[in-house]
Amino acid sequence: MSVLSAQGIGKVYSSKGNVVYKALEDIDLQVEAGEFVGVMGPSGSGKTTLLNLLSTIDRPTSGRIEINGIDPTKLTDNKLALFRRRELGFVFQDFNLLDTLSIKENIILPLVMEGMAPKIIEQKLKPIVDLLSIEGILGKRTYEVSGGQKQRAAIARAIIHQPSLVLADELTGNLDSKSAKDVMDSLKEMNERLKATVLMVTHDPFSASYCQRIVFIKDGRFFSEIRRGSNRQAFFQQILDALSVLGGNFDDVPFART
Ligand SMILES: Nc1ncnc2c1ncn2[C@@H]1O[C@H](COP(=O)(O)OP(=O)(O)O)[C@@H](O)[C@H]1O
Ligand SMILES: [Mg+2]
Repeated sequence: MSVLSAQGIGKVYSSKGNVVYKALEDIDLQVEAGEFVGVMGPSGSGKTTLLNLLSTIDRPTSGRIEINGIDPTKLTDNKLALFRRRELGFVFQDFNLLDTLSIKENIILPLVMEGMAPKIIEQKLKPIVDLLSIEGILGKRTYEVSGGQKQRAAIARAIIHQPSLVLADELTGNLDSKSAKDVMDSLKEMNERLKATVLMVTHDPFSASYCQRIVFIKDGRFFSEIRRGSNRQAFFQQILDALSVLGGNFDDVPFART
């Protein structure tokens, strides 16, 4: 079953009725339950725009989106907020953790907001903490842990309420290569062991090599798609090859990382 189905998605940015920029055109994208999909493209190709549409933060100017059979653009604001909170999990480049809370409080926040009983919250927290090996940092504040640990906590928070779809935008963008590897290993665990469905936008080929499938976009349009075999190293090379065909500007991409 498709968790996400986007058909003919387009986005035109306009100001006072005038078209400012056609950021996306005619994008089709399906994500099946349990898939780990990447979206890549040069800077300015529309990756963040696409993610904002799929995450219901922004509305497409054309096309249809369905998440778990529901078209979020048809929901009222109240229902949409609830839909987003229940059906989606988010991981951002800059972590978006609350500095006034402990790591544990940050992770369980989505469940607390649902009014869930503390005992059930603990039951849901345990397997995730074990899988991510973050027991030791649960009592710490965000400023007492590393960037990689923050992002792993953010992954735990994005997953604890068992959303239909986890969306990540450049989640390794602020991390050194060792932390990036830890974070991608963590996300992979969530995908493989907890069957989390993940859609990730990145311009980093190393992070992308963890995906099962990558969709490339260029100038707001679909460009190509590749699927991973069994070997991540080989897939990494395939991604580099695809990016060189794609062309464009990747400015801060650390291409040398493996
Ligand atoms: N709010 C906006 N108003 C006008 N143009 C925008 C807006 N947001 C993004 N754009 C433009 O849309 C294009 C795609 O941007 P974006 O989705 O951020 O690309 P990416 O994430 O791939 O770097 C860029 O040319 C960008 O300048
Ligand atoms: Mg972006």
